[in-house]
Amino acid sequence: MHSFQELSIAFANYFGTDHFPQTPGSLYDPNRYFLQLGGKRIRPILVLMGNELFDDIKTDAWPVANAIELFHNFTLIHDDIMDAAPLRRGMPTVHEKYGTHTALLAGDVMLVKAYEYLNQVDKEIASRIIKWFNTTATQVCEGQQLDMDFEKRDDVALEEYIHMIALKTSVLLAGALRMGAIIGGAGKRNADHLYEFGKNLGIAFQIQDDYLDAFGDPEKFGKQVGGDIISNKKTFLLINALSNGNSEQVSAIKSLLEKQAPDKVEKMLGLYRQTGADTLTRNLQKEFFDKAMFHLEEIAVVSSRKKPLMELAEFLIARDY
Ligand code: IPE
Ligand code: IPE
Ligand code: MG
Ligand code: MG
Ligand code: MG
Repeated sequence: MHSFQELSIAFANYFGTDHFPQTPGSLYDPNRYFLQLGGKRIRPILVLMGNELFDDIKTDAWPVANAIELFHNFTLIHDDIMDAAPLRRGMPTVHEKYGTHTALLAGDVMLVKAYEYLNQVDKEIASRIIKWFNTTATQVCEGQQLDMDFEKRDDVALEEYIHMIALKTSVLLAGALRMGAIIGGAGKRNADHLYEFGKNLGIAFQIQDDYLDAFGDPEKFGKQVGGDIISNKKTFLLINALSNGNSEQVSAIKSLLEKQAPDKVEKMLGLYRQTGADTLTRNLQKEFFDKAMFHLEEIAVVSSRKKPLMELAEFLIARDY
């Protein structure tokens, strides 16, 4: 059994930063640039942990972990275009530094590279792994489209928001665990519970991301704080402020949504604070964290094996970056 920290180091060594040829540098340098910026590498670690919950880490876990991390980085490069985000991991985004057209292609070729790693998986389990990978990737696209559709609406319900973040974010965490479980030889019942653990944890994780986007420390967060407010993202903060605010607050929010005033972020943050953003974050997160823990407990392996996953889960909701 390995701790979260040991797996982080082992994956960093295996993954490295260079997955692309030298030429043309105009295409591959942006990918090298982006991968060198690091990131928490949570999803590949979930593959390893999902495997190790049931058996020793198998050879197949490593290329799958690579594929998942490359897929994640591909989604970030394209997400930053969609969100017009200037910063990521404390540095300029790929489209900001190299232009949108290059960022599109750099992302595309990163996705292809992810499939090359998947192609290394033993053929006995390859079709199951690829099925889950494809289902997950399709759902991420659906979630990303809903995220953008919601920018134009001001009547998004909390349940719709949860559905959207489950698709854009949670299924990748859940899918990473599921693929690890398949590699580790888990039975269906255990793999299903592990998947539900990941899904609920992923929702709590995205709630934290939305909270940090509004209230994070820009130095630590590494992304533009207030970006979601500028883009009119329907985060739980906004949904809550609209449903709990008095009529004056609601009309102030709606008029802020209509234009890009220089003080939009500051004013919206004030309205979030008045409606109790902090308490709400913790309550909502706790609901999904507890659901995640229920499913983890249901998995039929000795509880000492679940320790690394619990460690990781706690880190994810307490993080400030
Ligand atoms: C960012 O994911 C995208 C979300 C789903 C919130 P991470 O916070 O895991 O990003 P990195 O890889 O650590 O930079
Ligand atoms: C992340 O949503 C979802 C995907 C990248 C697929 P966000 O747009 O909130 O992620 P960040 O905040 O830019 O990392
Ligand atoms: Mg974004
Ligand atoms: Mg986004
Ligand atoms: Mg975000």
